[in-house]
Amino acid sequence: MNSNNLDKKYVWHPYTQMKMWNNSENIVIESGKGFNFVDTKERSYLDGISNMWCNVWGHDRTEIISAMKKQLDILPHSTLFGLVNDPSVKLAKRLTNMVKGMSKVFYTDNGSTAIEAALKIATQYWNNKGKTQKKKFICLKNGYHGDTIGCMSIGYIDGYFSPYKSLLLKTIKVDSPTIRHEKFGRQNFEQYIDKIENILNRLSSKISAFVMESGAQIAAGVNIYPKNFQKEISDLCKKYDTLLILDEIATGFGRLGNMIEYKAQHSEPDIVCFAKALTGGYFPLAVTLTTNDIFKEFLGDYWAKKQLFHGHTFTGHPVGCTAALTNLDLYHKLNLIKKIRGNALVLNRLLTKFAELDICYDIRQKGLLCGIELRKGKNPIKMIEKVPIGQYIAAESLKRGVYLRTLGNIITIIPPLAIEQEDLRKLVDIEHEIVEKIQQKVRSC
Ligand SMILES: Cc1ncc(COP(=O)(O)O)c(C=O)c1O
Repeated sequence: MNSNNLDKKYVWHPYTQMKMWNNSENIVIESGKGFNFVDTKERSYLDGISNMWCNVWGHDRTEIISAMKKQLDILPHSTLFGLVNDPSVKLAKRLTNMVKGMSKVFYTDNGSTAIEAALKIATQYWNNKGKTQKKKFICLKNGYHGDTIGCMSIGYIDGYFSPYKSLLLKTIKVDSPTIRHEKFGRQNFEQYIDKIENILNRLSSKISAFVMESGAQIAAGVNIYPKNFQKEISDLCKKYDTLLILDEIATGFGRLGNMIEYKAQHSEPDIVCFAKALTGGYFPLAVTLTTNDIFKEFLGDYWAKKQLFHGHTFTGHPVGCTAALTNLDLYHKLNLIKKIRGNALVLNRLLTKFAELDICYDIRQKGLLCGIELRKGKNPIKMIEKVPIGQYIAAESLKRGVYLRTLGNIITIIPPLAIEQEDLRKLVDIEHEIVEKIQQKVRSC
């Protein structure tokens, strides 16, 4: 049996209707070459979504791979339960030097667990201070922070999470902002912020933290925040004694054109999470960083039980930390942020031709994050030839040598951060060709 048949027999894929999956011929990826995946039939697929938004340098960056191999030879893993390892210390030092205002690093192994750690840290912080009534989270509608129960509770997206509603914590949800300017004039913005202030003013004695993605909500459909939004929330959190937890798991490390997005947003979190691009996308590693003010509330006598009761087997993984350190060296050496900013301008120019297609209802872009929303008139386009639009676009992209996924009717272009201009152009041209084809089909029905 080949891998495709064995996959159908044994593997359960994420976010996948397996009945449809098992009735289709799927691609088996064998290797990585530059910004491409290569399958068992030696066909290449340009990675249009950076391998679920985490890939930085393409799929064969030798510096990171060699450093990981070297670390594997020395020590494959030693946990942080009662032990220290050198790469985790070096990385913690590096991150706290780089991330303004943060002084401690807590290690986990994926974005969801980084957020779960943040929620527990915030809850216990108030407990340790004797303010046990401060335990609710306030968050934005349609946020996405991962798939574990705490993460789903603070980031409810109905289309994904409705079967699990009975499991979720009760949280306070406020509307998320939108950059569609016609809906969001200055007056509307002020009213919107006033509404949030009102909630904080009334309920802050019960609220532990405000949790939100930093800079933009991606899974919600690429919703880029309007200017000053994040700063306003940060200021309100300070004013109403509420912690601010920022999720930079998908938006940090350059995705929006800034190494640390919250600095660019002039906001000041108490807790911030990174994952995905942290290791260049080569190892599952995540971090939850806190200020010293948070950390010092966890100090005390052993029996006072102020310590953080949280930890994972693979905490502070030396191979992951080595990958992250090498990744950071490359960011610095190759001035990646400058390259991203240059490519963001190129992407912006390339996107103008989508505006000429009338099914392109909205095009949202910041840095190397882009969402193109497809509608017929005011209605989201859901199906093409009886196939859900996301699957239609994914299949058409694969046919043309591109790996891409959509968020429903929103095409996402989220390329590896170090992508070359030529590949970026190829990616956008292919998606444009597909959207043109969809427009013809939509017109004819
Ligand atoms: C903003 C954000 N937070 C958290 C997560 C969860 O990360 P993971 O899939 O590694 O659990 C994601 C994943 O896409 C994300 O986009």
